[in-house]
Amino acid sequence: MAEQTTETEGPQINRGLQGVYFERSEVCDIDGKAGSLWYRGYSIHDLATRSTFEEVAYLLIYGELPTGNELESFASQLKLQRTLPELIYGIIDSVKDAHPMDVLRTAVSALSATDPDVTDNSREANISKTIRLTSQVPMIVAAHYHLRSGKPVIEPNFELGHAANFLYMMTGEIPSEDSAKLMDTDLILHAEHGTNASSFTARVVAGTDANLHASVVAAVAALSGPAHGGAAENVMQMALDIGEPEKAADYVKQLRKDRKPVMGFGHRVYRAEDPRARHMREGVRKLSEEMGQPKWYQILQAVVEAMSPYSRLGVNVNVDFYAGVVYYLHGISEDFFVPIFSVGRTPGWCVQVIEQFENNILLRPLTLYTGPEPRDYVELADR
Ligand SMILES: CC(C)(COP(=O)(O)OP(=O)(O)OC[C@H]1O[C@@H](n2cnc3c(N)ncnc32)[C@H](O)[C@@H]1OP(=O)(O)O)[C@@H](O)C(=O)NCCC(=O)NCCS
Repeated sequence: MAEQTTETEGPQINRGLQGVYFERSEVCDIDGKAGSLWYRGYSIHDLATRSTFEEVAYLLIYGELPTGNELESFASQLKLQRTLPELIYGIIDSVKDAHPMDVLRTAVSALSATDPDVTDNSREANISKTIRLTSQVPMIVAAHYHLRSGKPVIEPNFELGHAANFLYMMTGEIPSEDSAKLMDTDLILHAEHGTNASSFTARVVAGTDANLHASVVAAVAALSGPAHGGAAENVMQMALDIGEPEKAADYVKQLRKDRKPVMGFGHRVYRAEDPRARHMREGVRKLSEEMGQPKWYQILQAVVEAMSPYSRLGVNVNVDFYAGVVYYLHGISEDFFVPIFSVGRTPGWCVQVIEQFENNILLRPLTLYTGPEPRDYVELADR
């Protein structure tokens, strides 16, 4: 866990850059104490319940909600970009046994070899690349899902919206309206979150004037860790390990005794409940009941109950606590949960990079040296 160390003498050290502002941003605002989140001034609650992923992606990219015509044109552009070069399928196939996040990182990196605008860092080119990547990332994830089990890739369905098409490419079935809406909400909730570890990483790479693809590759790498995106995968594993709601309290007690974190709880910024969690909670409740598996919702709620004493310490559920069960109920393997996070976050990463380029600066903090005093070099023979 991060600890903030303030030296009595010498510079103040903010371990983990906790509480440090390094830039201004017009994209996303978070009030961690109140548990509030806004994308470009719009509350996440309005966006989650009234908007679509396409509208939210447009909002993030262009700064305003689209008109009807703008949305239609944007959604068509996204559909037009539902295509992957043959080379990428070959690369996915050749590394298919790696973790899906490693495969995604490799495939996004390889896309830079085929993108016509890869070295163009203008706003216009970066918006084109953002739209392409927003459509290509779900295609990579879905293609890997099938290729690794030796099955053919499912071609996109151009009749479907972004979230429904992603589910279709993953499962091979046209999703119900409710399932598609839940996935759409999930992607909206994951679309942007300020300078979290992966978006900050993307900005650091953009700060060197590297290109958008390089920045997104780095963001995918940062997201793969369990302290960031990996939590959803671990929450589902925890639910499976617990097995029955009655066993949740003992399970949590043991984790705390071993001083291990309970996955899907805690957040670097939120002290109140993560505002995104409630939308997924309701979705999980409905879906697990509809699918005749209410146990998963009950297990999660039993974990929440067992963790309630920690709430006053600011440790509450985060968005990943419920997301994993949604994917699980769709029959999606656990190691694909973090890649699904990437599907939602792609426009957010790109927009952070575009904003970084608009007023670019090399990001280069300092570490306070605490190693040995300067000393004489000793020849190898004399050591
Ligand atoms: C996300 C996370 C890395 C944030 O870490 P952080 O900012 O360093 O955590 P904090 O400084 O807020 O921790 C404050 C206290 O709460 C405890 N805490 C934080 N998260 C906890 C968790 N998930 N379970 C149990 N206790 C937790 C810490 O141990 C710490 O207690 P201490 O002061 O006795 O050491 C951390 O909460 C975590 O590992 N969560 C689980 C993984 C997860 O769900 N990640 C997804 C985030 S969206």
